[in-house]
Amino acid sequence: MSKIENFNKDIHTLNYKEKYENVRVTSNDLIKIESREVESLNGLFHFSVDPYETCLRASWYQEKKIADNGLKLPIDSDFEYWDEINVPSCWNTEIKDLYLYENMGLYFKQFDYLKKGKERVFLHFEAVMYRAYVFLNGEPVAMHDGGSTPFSIEITNYIKENNRLIIACDASRSDDRVPMSNTDWFNYGGIYRDIMLVRTPKTFIKDWSSYLVNDTNFSKIAFNLSLDKEVDGFCTFEIKELGIKKEIKIVNGKASDILEAKPILWDTDNPKLYDVSVTYKSDTLFEKIGFREIKVDGLDVKLNGKSIYLKGVSVHEDHIDLGKTTNEEIIRNTIKDLKQMNGNFLRLAHYPHTRLFSKLADELGVLLWEEIPVYWAINFDSKMTYLDAENQLSELILRDRNRASVIIWSVGNENPDTDSRLEFMSKLVDKAKSLDPSRLVSAACLVNTTKLKLEDRLMDKLDIIGNNEYYGWYEPRFEDLLTIFENTELDKPVIITEFGAGAKANNHSTKDTMWSEEYQQDIYKKQFQTISKSKYIKGTTPWIFYDFRAVRRLNRYQKGFNRKGLIDSDRKTKKLAFYVTQEHYSKIK
Ligand code: GCU
Repeated sequence: MSKIENFNKDIHTLNYKEKYENVRVTSNDLIKIESREVESLNGLFHFSVDPYETCLRASWYQEKKIADNGLKLPIDSDFEYWDEINVPSCWNTEIKDLYLYENMGLYFKQFDYLKKGKERVFLHFEAVMYRAYVFLNGEPVAMHDGGSTPFSIEITNYIKENNRLIIACDASRSDDRVPMSNTDWFNYGGIYRDIMLVRTPKTFIKDWSSYLVNDTNFSKIAFNLSLDKEVDGFCTFEIKELGIKKEIKIVNGKASDILEAKPILWDTDNPKLYDVSVTYKSDTLFEKIGFREIKVDGLDVKLNGKSIYLKGVSVHEDHIDLGKTTNEEIIRNTIKDLKQMNGNFLRLAHYPHTRLFSKLADELGVLLWEEIPVYWAINFDSKMTYLDAENQLSELILRDRNRASVIIWSVGNENPDTDSRLEFMSKLVDKAKSLDPSRLVSAACLVNTTKLKLEDRLMDKLDIIGNNEYYGWYEPRFEDLLTIFENTELDKPVIITEFGAGAKANNHSTKDTMWSEEYQQDIYKKQFQTISKSKYIKGTTPWIFYDFRAVRRLNRYQKGFNRKGLIDSDRKTKKLAFYVTQEHYSKIK
């Protein structure tokens, strides 16, 4: 084969992605990182766009500079000389020219590693939007799908003293992905959450969970543990403050037990957290865990046996300066805004937010709805799409199931009631329950506008029903809303997971003028009045807390933002509807 043909052979390669299936990582590879010794790899990476995915086509990651015949190769990549970008970040907010760029971006970093005895080493990402191809020292080590969930890669056999790490990040949208190519938010692109090295013993605790058994006795704590290997042994489960320290047998790498205890129950007024630790040989992990029970009892939602009303609001992970990247200050301010609005609940739409959110919600006493982006009309007929959705759900639940604040797993939003969707999402509901019997499973369903009632075959599978309705905005005949509630007979509670109207902050006019604050305020007043008449609606998360980037929203009031926020995208300017919500929630005990 000639030198030229050899060098440019990739230009004829069509299925250049197939080989990476061999290194796909999923929730089965995910390891628990809480309280582990981690070395952050955050910071400056060399970066370049790669819209033609030439890194994958031409195997740039091999960094081959000399051809087999000894001649120098005129390679087209320059990893060490490219400009730098900070990780974690969205390239859209970091690099002006990439504001709307959604294809492939290449990251490169060198890092040293000093082995500390007999150990295993993992590379762990908290999130990469959407597909990550990971290469270490010239070798493909992982491919991961899913833009908002963590993944771990064992690199024990690839890591050296000096390492060259390349990540190809594909942020493109496609109809087979989850979400598909059409969404009402901007996905951004990049390694937008933390990246780190994790060291573990040769045999280690891969996952563990503990929660209050939901038998309404509030006196049993369940414990489960998985090692990374199917070996026998013993582990120790300890909650000092409850006088619990128990050795539990491990069989084939698994241990589980139920222990008698009377913990102070976690709730929004007293978010009590216990120091819980688990030990296997030299491996000890610990987390702060709140013990509480969330249940549906007839038409009631009960927290620790007491009926509660979920006074909430939906929120996107979208910041005017940082895009999807967030931080503790932003989250604490969001929770402060919620409490100022007399709320106790947040719907983290429409995908898993950072794990920091549920940690802070545990600490501050806020209830959470967490969701995977099975959004609108995804490809319900595709097995690969199902596996992607199921994997994102599994990675979310494995990440957050020790978080008391999370009370609901949502398997999707506003999906058409078709046979394939029913089968697809029913399997997701079953998967959620198999991974976590202690929480409620829901989805945001649509109104049957023909029959004017809440009707969706998935509702039978759900513990609590989410329902989106926009009477007064997309649905002009507001009076139909009460008809819908009166036409609907249900044996389980409903959360109105979306209602609202668009308003440009400081745009004032009459209440009949669309896009004015007064119009939005009037819709909120009428919505709360009508919703209050229903005996089965036990919560609301109006759409939405803050204006957010939505590139399909292009009129003169929106200019690339969805303006249904109760607060402007500056996260400071509150609109009139904020105060309507604040007053409404103040009256609900
Ligand atoms: C839908 C959807 C949201 C969207 C909202 C809107 O209900 O769930 O993601 O942003 O309506 O139209 O503003």
